[in-house]
Amino acid sequence: MTLILGLESSCDDSAAALVTSDRRILAQAVVGQNQAHQPYGGVVPEIAARAHVEILPDLIAKVLGDAKLSIQDVDAIAATAGPGLIGGVMVALLAGKGLALASGKPLVAVNHLEGHALSPRLVDPDLGFPYLLLLVSGGHCQLLEVRGVGVYRRLATTIDDAAGEAFDKAAKLLGLGYPGGPAIEELAKSGDAREVPLPRPLVGSAEPHFSFAGLKSAVQRAVASGEFRPEDTAASFQQAVVDCLVDRTAIALGKTDAPALVVAGGVAANSAIRSALADLAAREGRRFSVPPGWLCTDNAAMIAWAGAERFAAGLTDPLDAPARARWPLDPEADKVRGAGVKA
Ligand code: KG4
Ligand code: ZN
Repeated sequence: MTLILGLESSCDDSAAALVTSDRRILAQAVVGQNQAHQPYGGVVPEIAARAHVEILPDLIAKVLGDAKLSIQDVDAIAATAGPGLIGGVMVALLAGKGLALASGKPLVAVNHLEGHALSPRLVDPDLGFPYLLLLVSGGHCQLLEVRGVGVYRRLATTIDDAAGEAFDKAAKLLGLGYPGGPAIEELAKSGDAREVPLPRPLVGSAEPHFSFAGLKSAVQRAVASGEFRPEDTAASFQQAVVDCLVDRTAIALGKTDAPALVVAGGVAANSAIRSALADLAAREGRRFSVPPGWLCTDNAAMIAWAGAERFAAGLTDPLDAPARARWPLDPEADKVRGAGVKA
């Protein structure tokens, strides 16, 4: 059994956690910054980085205190080293390096996306490799075949916006504030998804890539027309995203023999998305796994767990490991048309 301290600060959540290789979460703490970014309808990098600097040291002290342990009790320190907002990424990574240097414990530089990708295995011990992963977060929308720790084959990505970004932009258009996903999900409960005609970009196309920019523009037009109730627009938008995710994932399932379908990342906290993908997996005869909501949105338990998996595989990193704004899980993946800045 090993004990890993995980640190996360790549976007707008500061987090620390202590997790064992036998899947016990001894302590964890997450502090979000929603209020700080609310007025801007999205994360402001400099505000986020400053907040991480203020919050993270207290969270590290808190989880060690809660577990009644000292840094000498941990076997390794896992810190997110990217991808993400670089000012924020550097906070957890430098904290991790400082702790590693002072304690003599090894550093594991974790790819945040690998944190999401392996998170289901923290709570689902029977989930073995390989599995098809739908990774849906604020910055990413990808389908990946997860073959093992550190071994990924990307089957698809978004050619424009990520799914969470689409939720955030639609919420902003509806005046719902940031983050948009939970607000849209809540409003959609009282709406009718058949009321607002919205497109399903790329549905039916042969490669399982995603596109959400056209959907956002259609929401913009619907809102501007003044013809629809906000709850109907929210419900119709959410249904359009569900339909895109299900159609694209079905195509990807046809390209892999992986026996399980897994959904992870912040958008996987959405109940409509979870149940539609569970139904898809059942129809396709695949096992389905999705982490609980708190493990879908950014947290450090997933970083500690990815650290535990990498440490068990002998994968530790030198103290000059770089902070990376971009860091694709599958470095061999081709760029897709319109792929812009998405990793
Ligand atoms: O994984 P995450 O916490 O941070 C990133 O790594 O991006 O994902 C955040 C994204 C945001 O875009 C947020 O609006 C979305 O996940 N999200 C949701 C829900 N909860 C969070 N989207 C839809 N429904 C939700 N319930
Ligand atoms: Zn994330």
